[in-house]
Amino acid sequence: MEIKLWREILNPYELAVREIKVKLEHLITEHRELGEYSPIETVNGRVKSISSILDKAQKKKIQLDQIEEEIEDIAGLRIICQFVEDIEKVVALIRSRTDMEIKSEKDYIKNMKNSGYRSYHLIVYYTVETMKGSKRLQVEIQIRTLAMNFWATIEHSLQYKYKKNIPDHIRKRLSKAADAIIILDNEMSSIRNEIMDAQNSFQIQANIVADILNNIQNLYKVANKREVLKIQDEFYRIYELNDLEQLERFHKQLDIIAEGYHAQDIPSKK
Ligand code: GTP
Ligand code: MG
Repeated sequence: MEIKLWREILNPYELAVREIKVKLEHLITEHRELGEYSPIETVNGRVKSISSILDKAQKKKIQLDQIEEEIEDIAGLRIICQFVEDIEKVVALIRSRTDMEIKSEKDYIKNMKNSGYRSYHLIVYYTVETMKGSKRLQVEIQIRTLAMNFWATIEHSLQYKYKKNIPDHIRKRLSKAADAIIILDNEMSSIRNEIMDAQNSFQIQANIVADILNNIQNLYKVANKREVLKIQDEFYRIYELNDLEQLERFHKQLDIIAEGYHAQDIPSKK
């Protein structure tokens, strides 16, 4: 096939990779702007080179007029996550999109490859608009953690170096390294849970403080001002103790006090 024809085939794939990269990166922005944790850390993409396409076609005995159907990874994106838990969140995000339709999935995390390779793979259908109209393409999306990516990158460069015949003793060490990566991912997950707990108790405390201040403000309108100032000083004292339990107790007591004033309606601003 002529180079010019190849360009015609590959151009829509270029567009697909660029579009999907922008869209996935925008998800990171959306999460961050809401102050939420983004399950996506980074996104990379590439279109398979002509020589890799030819190699694969030859290896898998694919006719040249069949490559677009048979080679599913002409367009490829890689989503890197910090934690294993993030991967299923990313899959759910993709599943819920209307611009991508999942054709197939491979879970090499539950079912690690013999090499030690772990990742979650999706083949999706994605439509691009070109000068000649719309075109529906296949796109491979690989989702993995930073640690899985580290392993796969090293292993891939060794495959390259040894032309896919990695010596046995190196294979064994790669396999051990893969086990270490599993342990590392698990360790990171348990740290993540602790971080989440800490963030959670911070949110609980922020909500309690907001509630207390709201109650004090309302009391100020109806109760004896000196009493309210005393309550406020007590709140500051407890707040400085940095003890969530004491703060919760104070919150409950203040609620009871505020309830007591409920009978006398808060005066309206007439
Ligand atoms: P390919 O012919 O490589 O596409 O294999 P496949 O069609 O059976 O798909 P599979 O899901 O196994 O692999 C798709 C892609 O995942 C590959 O092109 C690699 O990018 C990656 N991959 C799969 N296995 C390995 C592995 O053992 N090591 C590394 N480094 N990457 C792998
Ligand atoms: Mg493949």
